[in-house]
Amino acid sequence: MKILVTGGTGYIGSHTCVELLESGYEVVIVDNLCNSKREVVDFIKEITHKEVIFYEGDVCDKELMRKIFKEHKIDAVIHFAGLKAVGESVKVPLNYYRNNIGSTITLCEVMNEFNCKKIVFSSSATVYGSPKELPIKEGFPLSATNPYGRTKLYNEGILTDLYVSDNNWSVALLRYFNPIGAHPSGLIGENPNDIPNNLMPYIVKVATKELKILSIFGNDYQTKDGTGVRDYIHVVDLAKAHVKAIEEVLNNTGVDAYNLGTGQGYSVLELVETFQKVNKVEVPYQIVERRPGDIDACYADPTYAKEKLNWEATKGIEEMCRDSYNFAINYNSKHQN
Ligand code: NAD
Ligand code: WQD
Repeated sequence: MKILVTGGTGYIGSHTCVELLESGYEVVIVDNLCNSKREVVDFIKEITHKEVIFYEGDVCDKELMRKIFKEHKIDAVIHFAGLKAVGESVKVPLNYYRNNIGSTITLCEVMNEFNCKKIVFSSSATVYGSPKELPIKEGFPLSATNPYGRTKLYNEGILTDLYVSDNNWSVALLRYFNPIGAHPSGLIGENPNDIPNNLMPYIVKVATKELKILSIFGNDYQTKDGTGVRDYIHVVDLAKAHVKAIEEVLNNTGVDAYNLGTGQGYSVLELVETFQKVNKVEVPYQIVERRPGDIDACYADPTYAKEKLNWEATKGIEEMCRDSYNFAINYNSKHQN
């Protein structure tokens, strides 16, 4: 079975390619490298000892997408390609709408032309807005608090409409909570070029002394220690869920949403302390103002993914901290020489 992975050289995409290849799938990647590097293709090959087909280009480019479908009999698609920085999406919303929604429309039009109607989509816990209750279940009300979140919500709607219009479609909407960690090989992981927006990449850059100090955004939240609580999930666990979702869409039709989290919430301080302990490294921090738009706590009820996909997260917070740091050390040592 051949799977097209859009955004396959990105953080979650690259880990998913590894899991797909190790489960016996063939993988075709399309990525315009706007937030990743070509070398990732070689790292995926190095980890798996398998071949990967790579197209450098934009999912919004219909002719390129047609060429890919002409050259390969694609059985299903995993659609990761997208822009993901919440703050940036507020500044340049049209870029987000064009790229994140435009790519989905172009992709689905071409899939329709080639009668490939099975898709796994990267959604996000952000579609729950500010949840009234915890843990979050898939049936909770959906809303968006920024343009990035709105692109996820619209894409979920577009894919649902597509299924309603043609019941031959099979759609899995995967709502990720907070992915962190890296492949244990240390070859692939998350490595933002700019100053990181997300907590774990920031912690890592402070630990490696690329940044001076971590700012913790608020310690007066309604949580165990006042700092924000999130459901961190190891990216390898997340990647494995995509293999289960692919099996599901290949074997069934319909549209379904799944929470992908561990079900456990950890505070910012707990994450920082665990990181320091397992990696035996200092992460200096200061408490600063709350970041606008942040919520107190967010964690999943992942029961549905367990029941329907037979998937659950297995890796704990210590492993997440260790693998994130290991990747950074490995990456920095390779790129300094
Ligand atoms: P990432 O930026 O590492 O990966 C996205 C990849 O898509 C990049 O390699 C980028 O070059 C590529 N890309 C972007 N637009 C493209 C286009 N038009 N055509 C071709 N390639 C394009 O991000 P990630 O963390 O791996 O996220 C993957 C997906 O999961 C995204 O859709 C993101 O919104 C979603 N998601 C991520 C998180 C998270 O915290 N990382 C959480 C929830 C959802
Ligand atoms: C986690 C916690 C911060 C940075 C975002 C997106 C969401 C999803 C995942 C894509 C919060 C605190 C952070 C820092 C800090 N992405 N923090 N200092 O905000 O839960 O979710 O990424 O879909 O849509 O909104 O993740 O890692 O930014 O923050 O104190 O320098 O860490 O306040 O409590 P978040 P995050």
